[in-house]
This record gives sequence, C-alpha cells and structure tokens, in this order.
Amino acid sequence: MTPPPLHGLAAGGLAPPHSPDWTIDQGWAAYGPAEHATWKTLFERQSRLLPGRACDEFVQGMLDLPMSADEIPDFRRLSEVLSRRTGWQVVAVPGLVPDDVFFDHLAHRRFPAGNFIRSPQQLDYLEEPDVFHDVFGHVPMLMNPVIADFIQAYGQGGLRARQRGCLTQLARLYWYTVEFGLLQQSDGLRIYGAGIASSYTESQFCLDSPSPHRIRLDLERVMRTDYRIDDFQETYFVIRSLDELLQMAAIDFAPLYDRVTGLPALEPGTVLPQDDVLHRGDGRYHHRDGSPS
Ligand SMILES: [Fe+2]
Repeated sequence: MTPPPLHGLAAGGLAPPHSPDWTIDQGWAAYGPAEHATWKTLFERQSRLLPGRACDEFVQGMLDLPMSADEIPDFRRLSEVLSRRTGWQVVAVPGLVPDDVFFDHLAHRRFPAGNFIRSPQQLDYLEEPDVFHDVFGHVPMLMNPVIADFIQAYGQGGLRARQRGCLTQLARLYWYTVEFGLLQQSDGLRIYGAGIASSYTESQFCLDSPSPHRIRLDLERVMRTDYRIDDFQETYFVIRSLDELLQMAAIDFAPLYDRVTGLPALEPGTVLPQDDVLHRGDGRYHHRDGSPS
C-alpha cells in the first residue's frame, strides 16, 4: 500500500558513495532465483492489472521494452532500447542518493534505479524505491519523448530550486505528476505516475475509490500541497495531456517560487473554492478512524 519515497529527496543516513555519481554495477548475475521470483510475482500481478488503468503511453512503453516476467531486467539491455528511443539510460544505484546527484543524473538523461528488489514479505510495502518501482514504474514512461523531456527539465530545475531553497515546492510537483499523476484520456482517467503504476493497491484505489479527490492540475496549487509518503494519496491531480507537463517545464518557476513560498502549505486533503474538481472525495479511507477531515 505504501508508495516508495521520492527518489533522492527523502535520503537520510546515506551510505558512502561508491563513485562520485553514486552509480554501481547492477550486478545482474548476482540475482538469485528468489529475487527473480519476486520480480515475476510483481510483474505478472501488475501487468494484468494495468491495461485499461495505465495510460496508453505507459502500456506501449512496457510492450516496447525488453522486460518480461521471466527475470529482473538487465539495465544494459533496457538502456540500449531506451537510448535509441529517447536518449535516456538506466543506471544502477544502491538506494536513495543525495538530491544534487539525483538531479544531475536526470539533467543528463540518466535514470538512477535501485538495483535491489524488495523481499517477498514486502510486496506492498517498501521504504526505498527498488528495482520494481524504478524500472517497471518509471522506465515505460521514459520511452515517451514528452515525459523524457519533462523529467530532464525537472533535473535541471531541481538544481536551480535547490540553490533557491525551493526544493519542497518542486518536489510536490514531481510527486503529484511523475509519481502520482493521473491523465484524462478520451476513455477515462488513466495512471501515468510511477508510484501508482508500481503499486497493486494504489492502482485500484486511485481510480476506483470514492475516497480521494481528483482535481485538475494547477501548477501553483500543486506546489503548495503537501503529500502523504506513507499511505495512499488523499488527492490526485489530473492533466489533460502529457504535453501539459512539457508546457509547465517551459515556465520560469522563479516568480512562482516567490509567490508560493509566501503562502501557507495546503493539507493533502484540502479542496479550494477555485479548484476544478472532477471528483470530490468523501475521505472515507483516510478518515475511517473518525479523525477530522
Ligand atoms: Fe519513483
């Protein structure tokens, strides 16, 4: 149920770097049968669930990648296909990496992916992004040229936001788009965020449950909105097309940061009068213990 934390941004107690950019060899040959079996369980479960739930671009990306239930993918083979399509590579890291290292990788079209896989006891719960979240959740969308450009722009913007002390605001945008974003397709709402796409339970909750709000994405609004790192989201923000992300990436965030940092943060379940609400959630999931909404 619990999504992995945002890459790089929740890092604490980090191990010393193995190399200046924190990359390591994936160590593909060292995966044992139990690790491949965990991948298979997760892959089969999720690839059965996602058609009709994930957006068309995600499903197509999955089909075009050398990725199957049989084994944990080899990052070199993934990167061959990915780099031909959008110029991205997948590089292995041992876990969460510092912000500046993470952003620098993205700015250079390298996606840092954890090389470890969760234990069979943690199928729906993990504290750090593992190979299933990073590869199954993120890499299919990196096959799309628009997302490929947006995530690179996020890396470039992250380095600037860090210097301005506005990382929190930018992290909220990443969270509610790249990790937990929904897309309005002509045939209904679809998942494009990796945090959802790699979660069996949240892939259902985000679309099926009457509990969460589903609100049209507004850049400034999202930059003010806190998020849940340890449970399903209370609000999902919906874009009309992937191009909307790229248009956002072209905006100068500096004046936005100045405005937003002067305003109070919004609780994850807040609905504002000016919100374009597609579905007003009843909050039954998060307030099932009777706590105030
Ligand atoms: Fe992620």
